[in-house]
Order: sequence, then structure tokens, then C-alpha cells
Amino acid sequence: MTLQLGVLVSGTGSNLQAIIDAIEKGELDAKIRLVLSNRPDAYGLVRAKKAGLPTLALAHNEFSSREKFDEKLVKSLKEAGVQWVALAGFMRVLTPVFLTAFADKIINIHPSLLPAFPGVNAQKQAFDYGVKVTGCTVHFVDQGVDTGPIILQGSVAVKESDSLEDLRARILKKEHQLFVEALSEISRGHVSVLERRVSVLRAT
Ligand code: GRF
Repeated sequence: MTLQLGVLVSGTGSNLQAIIDAIEKGELDAKIRLVLSNRPDAYGLVRAKKAGLPTLALAHNEFSSREKFDEKLVKSLKEAGVQWVALAGFMRVLTPVFLTAFADKIINIHPSLLPAFPGVNAQKQAFDYGVKVTGCTVHFVDQGVDTGPIILQGSVAVKESDSLEDLRARILKKEHQLFVEALSEISRGHVSVLERRVSVLRAT
């Protein structure tokens, strides 16, 4: 099944780029119906335009509440024909307005091995803690912050010589692979959820 995808970004959009590239290479069966950002200056919007994709910038601070902002997000995504939502570095917590409209169809990439180091600056949290292994997690989004059912995780070893930036870059590379892989498994109908345990019937 071709995923009818909406991608939400707040920043540089390298994960968005990985999705665009995978679709172009035929590695991911998806169509990006809309790239949406809460930051009009997000470089992710530039990447989307370069790829010829429809974009929309909605500055969250121009809305009177989180719910009003989410109502507009939902309306825009639905009008564009979006059925699945990928949060690719989207730095806003979504309200039940959004979660209900796209129930069980929202996935997020987080740069740590959840449940360790949720929230912002996960790479720095892991680096400062001194863990030897960290990584990234693709998960369904629920009402908590980075608490939803885990689809895939990828590990990244921390080297003694690593700076925070070295580690961040290696995690980001892993994120690009993992996010595409998770979306691809979803498009193949290989992902199912029972309570909070996700089963991924991997392609061979
Ligand atoms: C990624 O590390 C993602 O996990 C986090 O924000 C970063 C976004 O990077 N939530 P990019 O905008 O995809 O380059």
C-alpha cells in the first residue's frame, strides 16, 4: 500500500530528505502529500520545495492555543489527503485534537534508545550520562512525550574519543536508515500493535 504521508518538520529536515531519497530510489512506497512546519524558516521546507513537494508553514505562535494550532494542522493534512504522519524533528507536543484525528497513524523518530533519555537534547543527555551505547527509536505517538509503542530501535556505540557532535552525527545517520525502514515496513503491512507491543514482520 502506498503510504499517503504528511511530514512535519521544525528544523533542518535531514530525516525528511532521507524519506524523499528513499521514495525516489524506489525503496519506500509512499507519496508525500504535504510537508508542514511550525517554523517558516525551517530548512526542511527548502528541501521539500527543491523536491517539488507541497509545503505549508504555520507559525505556532500565531495561534491562540495548542488546540487551535492542531485543528489547523489536521485540516491542512486531511485536505491534502494525508493518512499517515511522520514527525521528522517536529518540536511541538501534539494535543488530543491531533492524536485523535490520526489515531495510531503518527510515527516519530527520537535520538535515543527509549525509554532512556526522552524529551529534548536526548543525545546530550546520553553523552553527559556516560552511556556506552545509545541510538535511536522509531515509535508510534501517544499522549505522552516519547512514550508510544516502539516500532524499531537502532543502537550506536559511544566511543571514548567522541565529541557530542561526533555522536550526534552518527545517531543522525542511523535515524535516516531506521525511519525509512520503519515506514517501509508499515507500507508493506508488516507492522501491527497489540497493546504496547509492536510486531514487525521483517521483509526477507
Ligand atoms: C533528529 O535528531 C530527530 O531525532 C530529532 O530532531 C532531529 C531532527 O533532525 N527529533 P532533522 O531536522 O531531520 O535533520
